[in-house]
Formats: sequence, structure tokens, C-alpha cells
Amino acid sequence: MIAMQKHGLTTVLLFSFFALHAQQPTTLLVDADHRPQTSLNGPWHYVVDPLHQGWGSHPDQPSLNGYAKNAHFVPGDGLLEYEFALSPTLNVPGDWNSQKPNLFFYEGMLWYQKDFNYQPKPHTRVFLHFGAVNYEANVFVNDQYICKHEGGYTPFDCEVTSALKPGSNFVVVSADNQREQARVPSIRFDWWNYGGITREVSLIEVPESFIDDYSLQLKRGTANQLDGYVHVAGATAGEKVTLRIPELHLEKTSQTDASGNAAFSFTANNLELWSPDHPRLYTVEMRTGSDSLTDQIGFRTIEVKGEQILLNGKPIFLRGVCIHAEAPYRSGRAWSKEDAETLLGWAHDLHANFVRLAHYPHDENMTRTADKLGIMVWSEIPVYWGNDWTNPRTADIAAQQLHEMVRRDHNKASVILWSMSNETPISPERTAFISKLAALARQQDPTRLITSAVVTHFDGQKAVLDDPLGQYLDVLGYNEYIGWYNGKPDDAPAYTWENPLHKPLIMSEFGGGAQAGLHKDSSYRFSEEYQANLYQQQFQMLDKIPFLAGITPWVLMDFRSPMRQLPGIQDYYNRKGLISDKGEKKKAFTVLQNYYEQHER
Ligand code: GCU
Repeated sequence: MIAMQKHGLTTVLLFSFFALHAQQPTTLLVDADHRPQTSLNGPWHYVVDPLHQGWGSHPDQPSLNGYAKNAHFVPGDGLLEYEFALSPTLNVPGDWNSQKPNLFFYEGMLWYQKDFNYQPKPHTRVFLHFGAVNYEANVFVNDQYICKHEGGYTPFDCEVTSALKPGSNFVVVSADNQREQARVPSIRFDWWNYGGITREVSLIEVPESFIDDYSLQLKRGTANQLDGYVHVAGATAGEKVTLRIPELHLEKTSQTDASGNAAFSFTANNLELWSPDHPRLYTVEMRTGSDSLTDQIGFRTIEVKGEQILLNGKPIFLRGVCIHAEAPYRSGRAWSKEDAETLLGWAHDLHANFVRLAHYPHDENMTRTADKLGIMVWSEIPVYWGNDWTNPRTADIAAQQLHEMVRRDHNKASVILWSMSNETPISPERTAFISKLAALARQQDPTRLITSAVVTHFDGQKAVLDDPLGQYLDVLGYNEYIGWYNGKPDDAPAYTWENPLHKPLIMSEFGGGAQAGLHKDSSYRFSEEYQANLYQQQFQMLDKIPFLAGITPWVLMDFRSPMRQLPGIQDYYNRKGLISDKGEKKKAFTVLQNYYEQHER
């Protein structure tokens, strides 16, 4: 209890402490984007709170009389030192850094508030769906503390059924993007720490028992065996579930078991398999007694055979490119369908059939668009460089983000690889930490391949891919910067590569910086000619690696990073893009495009 007495100078303010415990999100709605929903996108009032004033003094429990309470200032009466209705607004979705110049570098807590109308319906449950909030979100509805979520790049759903009232309601969200050693990602990373409600927000209504998860996959080694399940939250055993694929004239029924799972396994003849050349998606309808859901699902298999990656049983070479979720043209966190279509459209222009979505799960528009365009995806959790490998909380946060990444996209045919990490320094603790994540990923989704961008060592110009983490992976990723951080571009053709684990290799990063429009000779660093020559030299080396199953050069488009300050050249952008942040294609774009055109294997 904090109380101050008013005798002329101070005011009695009873900041009452409620022993508040938010629920952890109780489920994650798969295929949320195909459900009817009420959007809460648009302007939200905000209050910047670097001192956590609005939170109160207990680190884990908010003071309900802090900013979570939508209190209203009455001029001349009482002492209230904030007021959402009088405060400016931020557009949601959207990071705050790119919307407000005075928030460009801001890292800390910021409170959002939005009024909305709602009419509760009988036998209906309501969830607040967030595409992502970077980094920690605490959600309040009508002065009730609803839920907390940690992790800046994965969706979460908070049930608000009991907090809603007829007519006007309000939601308050605290977003805190402060970097911390124990968080995932940790303190240092080479991208902008865009904070806030960075993806879409909506209210989703479901019946009392509803479909919250399902999986339907083509069984490896077959061209017509579909296996899967439909999970019905709130169902008792024996509830009938129907699954239909109208284009195949298929209708199957099953029943829920005691955990709400209805298993399916059946033959689907005349199935057209999903591939980059034929990104066939089928309408899949699921129905229970009270709920129904429709998805667009592609059926394909992905597996490893020796040092090759097989798509639908045939070897495939992954002609890729790395992408950060940087909004094309405007910069800031990308989130929209248009952003996804622009970025993946550029990848398609490259004749790419693959993208590495670095270094965190991108928004669902990206994987939906990849499904439609026939672009395969490497999806990654942000276990990046150094993490707190021995901290159980860090391990839990990483596992939670992995679970959410897999859960959201495990019916997306485009996603073929789950990546556990990027360039983490070798130690027994790190290998134990990441190998556990690999085991969790396999358990949750045995139908896809597991990878990481590992570390390796060079004996002069001989690279040996012997990272102990490699034994836990299906496919090795490796980031090399010969010609940028190591030596000159013309050194590349002399390098040789050894693969003692005999696993497929994806060269998951290579490249160099160039300022769009800077034209010099190819020895001039940061010129377009330097970057273009670097790519040409790389191809002479890459073409000699027999176990190379794919490449994803770094990076499709320039992206913001606090590590890249060089005035007049970088200006807080990492300039290794093949395209500038303003959409200008650099010479190296054409070099890679030609290479892929000639290698459309
Ligand atoms: C590393 C890292 C990237 C980084 C890149 C660079 O390989 O994985 O996140 O941006 O190098 O230095 O540009």
C-alpha cells in the first residue's frame, strides 16, 4: 500500500495493490486469419513509460491503479498524471520507432489504449488475437489484467470473454522492448529493435468448444496418404469431427478422444503435390457440432537423403535469398499482405524458389504468400549469437517461441525447415540448449527438417563443417563472408569445404555491402561493382561444393541496424541488400538473377 496524506500540498492517493496474476495464454488459434474477426487495427492512444511508472513497484505484478486503469483527468480536481484520451496515437499494427522521430531509438515500456464496442453473445467465447508484440506484452481489458506474453515475433491469443461488457469496452496493452540478457533474442543483434504492437490485433469469437489446432500432412514416401488430427478445445471424448476436401470429393469423419484430438488417416488419390513449379493448394473444411474452419493446404513431402534435400522424393536445389522483416520503401517492421507480396515478389523476380526468413518468425502474410507463390521457407527463432545458455527462463522462452512458430505454420506447405539458431558460439551449454530445441521441434512436427546456421573453423582456405551442433540437425546452415569480413572477393574460388557429418549444406549467408548508386571499380568497398564481383567470385566456389543443397545470400533488401552507423553510406542501414531500402535494384541483383536462371535445376 502506498499512501500520501493531503494537507494542502499532497494528495491522498491510495494505490491499492491487487494480487494480480494474469493468465498465460491458454491456447493459440491455428488458422486465425481465416476466422471471422473484428479488427482492432487503427489509432491507439499511447503513453511512453521509461520509468515503469504506470506499472507500479512490484516487478511481476502491475498496480491496477497504474496506467492499466483507463482513468480520466478532471481539470482542477484530483491528481492524475496521465490521460490516454488526451494522449497522441500510434497506428496499430506498426512499430513505434518508425512512426515517431522521438521514439526512433526508444527501448522500454510504452502503454497503448483503445476503446471499442462489443455485444456479448450467448455460448460464445472471445479471444483477443495479437499477431505479435515486441517484446513483452501485458494485456488489460476494462481494468482486468488478462494475460502476459513474452517474445516479439509470434502470435498469441488471450481469452477476454468474462471481461467484456455490452456496449463500450477498452483495452490497454503495455509493450516493453527492453533488451535483456535472459531474453530471446538477447542483448546484441544486427537488426533494429522495433518495439510495440507490430502486427495485427483482432477480436475472434468462437463457440464454447472450437477447433484450435489441426495438422494434415502427406506421409513421407507416399503420394496419396494423408495423416493428421483436428483438436477441439472444450470437447469431450466422442465428439464427431468431419473433414472435407471438396476438390478431391473426399469427406472423412472421426471422433475426439479424451484430450479433444480427432485422428485422421486416409488415402487421397489424384492428389496434385505442392511444389514451386505447381503450388497447388486445396480447400480443407473442418467441422464439429458447433464450429467450422476452412484452410488452404498444400501437400508435399520434404526429406533428406545423404547430402541431398528431396522435395516429393526428388532432389531439389534451393535457390534462395535471406529476408529481414523490414518494410519495403517505408522501413519499419513489415507486417502487411502488401509488404509480403513486395518482398516475395522480388524473390520471385530473382528466380528464387526459397527464402530464409531471418532471424525470427515473420508475420503470417509471408508464409501465406509463400504458399501461393510456391516459394519454400526456412523459418527461424531468434536464438542469435550469445544467449543465456544456462538460464532456465531463457530456455523456456526459446521453447515457447519455437512452439508458437511451429503451431502457427505447421500447415503451410511452403515451410520446409525449422531453424533453431543463428551463429551461436560453440560451448557445451549452447549445444545442450539448442539440441533440446531440435528435439522439441521434431516432437511437435516430425514432417519437416531441422537446421541452424552453425559455426565452423577454417584451416587456411579449407573450411571444415564440424560444429558439434550439426549432429542434431538434418541440414547444416553456414554463414560465410569470404570477400567481405575475411580476405578479398577473388580469394573465394580457392576455398575448399569438408563435410565430416555428410549432411546437406545450405550456405545460409554470404555477401557484402553496397550503397545503391555508388559506382566505382570492383576493388572499391561499398560500391555496387564490389558487391557484384563478390557474388561472381562466390559462385565459382559454390559450384565446386558437391554437398551444397542450397544458398541464401545475405540479404534481399537493406535493413535498419544500430550496428551500421557509417554516415553517408550506411546511416543505420545494413547495406548488404541486393535491393536498397527504397527498392533500387543493385548490380548484384542481376548477377544473382542470371545465376539462378542458368541453374534452374
Ligand atoms: C551475420 C548475421 C547477420 C548479420 C550479418 C552481417 O552472419 O547472421 O544477422 O546481419 O552477419 O554482418 O551483415
